[in-house]
Amino acid sequence: MHIDVHSSSHSSHQIPRIKQEKRIMATTPEWIMIGGEGPESYNQHSSYQRALLEAAKEKMNEAISAKLSLDLISGGRFSVADFGCASGPNTFVAVQNIIDAVEDKYRKETGENPGEKVEFQVLFNDFTTNDFNTLFQALPPGRRYYSAGVPGSFFGRVLPKHSFHIGVINYAFHFTSKIPKGITDRDSPLWNRDLHCTGFNAVVKKAYLDQYSADTKTLLDARAEELVPGGLMLLFGSCLRDGVKMSETSKGIVMDFIGASLKDLAQQGVIDQDKVDSFSTPLYVAEEGELRQIIKENGKFTIEAFEDIIHPNGEFPLDPKILAVSFRASYGAFLSAYFGVETMIKAFELVEVKAREEISRIQNAKPGMQYLIVLRKN
Ligand SMILES: C[S@@+](CC[C@H](N)C(=O)[O-])C[C@H]1O[C@@H](n2cnc3c(N)ncnc32)[C@H](O)[C@@H]1O
Repeated sequence: MHIDVHSSSHSSHQIPRIKQEKRIMATTPEWIMIGGEGPESYNQHSSYQRALLEAAKEKMNEAISAKLSLDLISGGRFSVADFGCASGPNTFVAVQNIIDAVEDKYRKETGENPGEKVEFQVLFNDFTTNDFNTLFQALPPGRRYYSAGVPGSFFGRVLPKHSFHIGVINYAFHFTSKIPKGITDRDSPLWNRDLHCTGFNAVVKKAYLDQYSADTKTLLDARAEELVPGGLMLLFGSCLRDGVKMSETSKGIVMDFIGASLKDLAQQGVIDQDKVDSFSTPLYVAEEGELRQIIKENGKFTIEAFEDIIHPNGEFPLDPKILAVSFRASYGAFLSAYFGVETMIKAFELVEVKAREEISRIQNAKPGMQYLIVLRKN
């Protein structure tokens, strides 16, 4: 799949043009964000994801101060890598916060100015289809780091051994590398009829959890090889509180609206019901206990902190339009790859209507959990 990052002229919505659409889900398309800086872009609709970085900043500073050894800087070069960086601007906040914390620690412990002693490098990773052009054009002027793009799936190795000191993942630790087998097959007991959430019965959940565990262990194995000994991984994102179902949270409810909207479009004859039946998503929002267990079983890292962060926007702003536009910025490119841009636009118009009709359900949903997990390489 290739998504043209330049805005399409086909409508005022400025959704990226899909050059080649994959119409069957034989392989899972890459889940990239809507690129560019237009009104529909992830760049313009990622303040929710950015707010977690700010809310968790103090805890992150404490962790870097307590857990990072300055011996790692002895060579005078310090590398930070962001995995799943998208096209900005959140990645710039993430990496700058880390660099500030490292410099602060350096100043306090050595009494010297790191500016003269340490050179910082930032490695930006995402899929090759990510909009790296927008990212690099928006690099902050006056930054105190060198930068490089590292394209490729973070489920495999993307860097040489021992090539960075602190890695960060913000809202990208919930993906799977593919949709588990059987999930999109109507004849399988694993068929997940309702896109993701309400149809998430015990067997469907197990299939996703197995896939997620295997993928996450692969991701951790790769990062453990790429990190220098004693290096840190900082994971920011959302998980479920133990025992809470995705369909009971506001994010799950909106995901179900996406599924219901696609079903409406099938009933209106806009798309085939078969196509809707064979659609699913390569993501799994784990429970806290599951995350702890996966990391422990992998064995390459020690969990130094698992912080429950109070997000200033709670689960999501309770505004139907903002909800629809934010979810479209994150989910739209993936849906477009399967259904086409027009259908995707129509689906999110319906999502907004459903969110308006059921705003009190969203308001009364069970809370999810926003986390900062600090891992130190063993
Ligand atoms: C919700 S966005 C978060 C972006 C950014 N970290 C932020 O805080 O705004 C998730 C990002 O993860 C990337 N991603 C998902 N799966 C990936 C994979 N297997 N390898 C590399 N990047 C991936 C997507 O392309 C997307 O840019």
